[in-house]
Order: sequence, then structure tokens, then C-alpha cells
Amino acid sequence: MSKSETEKPGFVIWLTGLSGSGKSTIADRLAKILSQKGRKIERLDGDILRGIFPNTGFDRQARDEHIQRVGYMASRLEHHGVIVIASFISPYRKARRFVRGLCKQFIEVWVKASLEECKRRDVKGLYKKATTGKIQQFTGLDDPYEEPEKPELIIDTEHQTIEQSVSQILDKINLFM
Ligand SMILES: Nc1ncnc2c1ncn2[C@@H]1O[C@H](COP(=O)(O)OP(=O)(O)OP(=O)(O)O)[C@@H](O)[C@H]1O
Ligand SMILES: [Mg+2]
Repeated sequence: MSKSETEKPGFVIWLTGLSGSGKSTIADRLAKILSQKGRKIERLDGDILRGIFPNTGFDRQARDEHIQRVGYMASRLEHHGVIVIASFISPYRKARRFVRGLCKQFIEVWVKASLEECKRRDVKGLYKKATTGKIQQFTGLDDPYEEPEKPELIIDTEHQTIEQSVSQILDKINLFM
């Protein structure tokens, strides 16, 4: 990697949206493309973090603390020139705003699909579990999702292919590369 590559500033791409909206799918594709360009990338993903810290709960306080910890980590990585691709439902505006405040360049991407579409996809079978009462505090069903008010980007994954969604983000971040 050339010196100029390592000196390029980092930034944080923060993907928020309902479960099944497409955050991890898009984040993984983006990470692959950007690392092929020689940039330092870090992926932070809700499922992975919750796998490492399995006692993270789903009430408001637990969700907020989870996002605060991850957001801090993202901001430190950004400080060292890393492009952080974070995929978290992150349903609360206040927590997302907190992370934005920690980061220098925070690109909030609302990965948007209707609840009906996410239920239809039900990638992990979680919507079925939630509607049959096997799990509680499920975002969009019995827990809120506060839609972003001024995200840098809205990606409509219900009416776009994965490729279209990814290239929409690539177009946006070209401004920061
Ligand atoms: N335009 C699109 N962008 C992303 N995913 C799409 C798109 N169109 C269809 N999909 C499909 O939607 C599903 C999204 O699942 P994914 O696990 O990425 O969601 P998620 O937002 O990470 O959910 P969770 O919050 O539960 O981790 C995948 O099966 C993917 O193939
Ligand atoms: Mg995911």
C-alpha cells in the first residue's frame, strides 16, 4: 500500500434499518469492494458483537449501551484512517446521534424496506418467532424503530437489487475517498 493510501482519512458508514432490511448483505459487499481498492476496512456487525457479548439485552438501556460502545470503537478506528462499515438495527435516534457526535465523518445510511417485506424475507426466522411469542422486544413489532430524519442516504432495498443498493452507497462515499 502506498503512503498516500495510509494517509487518507477514515470515515464511518453506519447502516441502520429493520432486521432483514439488508444491512449485513450490503455491508459485506461494500467491504469486499473497498478492501480491493487497498483501503483499510473494518466491519462491525450487530450479530457478531452480540455473539461476543451474548448478555447484551434488547431493552432501551441495553440497546443504547451497545450502540454507544460500538460507536466509540467505530470513532477510534476512524481516527486511525480506517473505513468503518457498521451494520446495526440501532433503532433509537438518540443513540445514532450520539455516535454521529463521536465521529468526524458519519454517513448514516437508512437501509429501508417495509416491515411486510422484512417479514416476507424472514432471513433468520426471527419474525416468525416474534409473532408466535417465542421472542420479545422485536424491532418493528413490539419494539420501536425510529426512522432516520436526515440520513445522508436512503437505500430502498425493497425495490432495488443488491447491486443497485451497493452502487448507490459507492457513489456517495466517492466524495470522501
Ligand atoms: N437491495 C437489497 N439489498 C440488500 N439485501 C437485499 C436486497 N434485496 C433483497 N435483499 C435480501 O434481503 C435479505 C437481507 O438480509 P440481511 O441479513 O442482510 O439483513 P439485516 O438488515 O442485516 O438483518 P439483521 O438486522 O437481522 O441482521 C437478504 O436475504 C438479501 O439477499
Ligand atoms: Mg445483519
